[in-house]
Amino acid sequence: EKKPRTPVIWLHGLECTCCTESFIRSSHPTIEDLLFNMISLDYDDALSAAAGTQLEDVRRKIMKDYKGKYILAVEGNASTKDDGVYCMVGGDSFLNTLKETAADAAAIIAWGNCASFGCVQNAHPNPTGAAPVSEIIKDKPIVKVSGCPPISEVMTGVITHFHTFGTLPELDRLGRPKAFYNTRIHDKCYRRAFFDAGMFVRSFDDDSTRKGWCLYKMGCKGPTTYNSCSKIQWNGGTSFPIGSGHPCIGCSEPNFWDKGPFYTR
Ligand code: SF4
Ligand code: SF4
Ligand code: F3S
Repeated sequence: EKKPRTPVIWLHGLECTCCTESFIRSSHPTIEDLLFNMISLDYDDALSAAAGTQLEDVRRKIMKDYKGKYILAVEGNASTKDDGVYCMVGGDSFLNTLKETAADAAAIIAWGNCASFGCVQNAHPNPTGAAPVSEIIKDKPIVKVSGCPPISEVMTGVITHFHTFGTLPELDRLGRPKAFYNTRIHDKCYRRAFFDAGMFVRSFDDDSTRKGWCLYKMGCKGPTTYNSCSKIQWNGGTSFPIGSGHPCIGCSEPNFWDKGPFYTR
């Protein structure tokens, strides 16, 4: 309880801001507990009241005062084509800002599929040369908290781990925290018994849909997707895509947009 809060600089590149939308809904720990007791969210150009020069000055001050000690959280990715001109923030390219802010960070958290793997921005033909954080920053520890967006409790769980132990959690071969990405959606899915029995939904508007049979034949990517949705679920354990009748589209895996179409196999 006496530990000083960990300074966090949170950058936003090419993204939709739903990672932030997810983050602020965490219930275990609550977002209030996280912000008041664990981290000091000193810079976030989506959530801060300040903007422009005033805010950029804060970012540079934190980088100087907490050199080697702050966490860099990145939501979105960087345009690399034409010197990064397709994503400008605060008068500079996001590409430059990312490199500058990463230089003295203790570690980097890549939020969501955008920052982790590229998401829709770097789907074929990737007109802006969008690249995930790990393709730009090579000399820092990076944890990829994937998903589009990631589950809020997974996001705050990763921060809690760093704040408590001072290190990133153990990662899988793709750089995701094993604690949350070590099982497939399919492994814990409550519709698994229907899969095993060969009882599949074949149309979104038939009796098998109403009975909640397996969505594999509707394109469900649960058998190849590693995430915690079927274990801890969303919105404080309320539901997850399959629980709402929709196949998993594999949003925590690399290149999931290019692996479509989503609704047929
Ligand atoms: Fe939005 Fe998905 Fe990117 Fe997060 S990973 S910013 S939810 S597009
Ligand atoms: Fe597996 Fe998807 Fe069927 Fe669930 S709905 S059992 S994740 S194929
Ligand atoms: Fe994404 Fe599949 Fe979970 S689409 S939200 S990983 S169920």
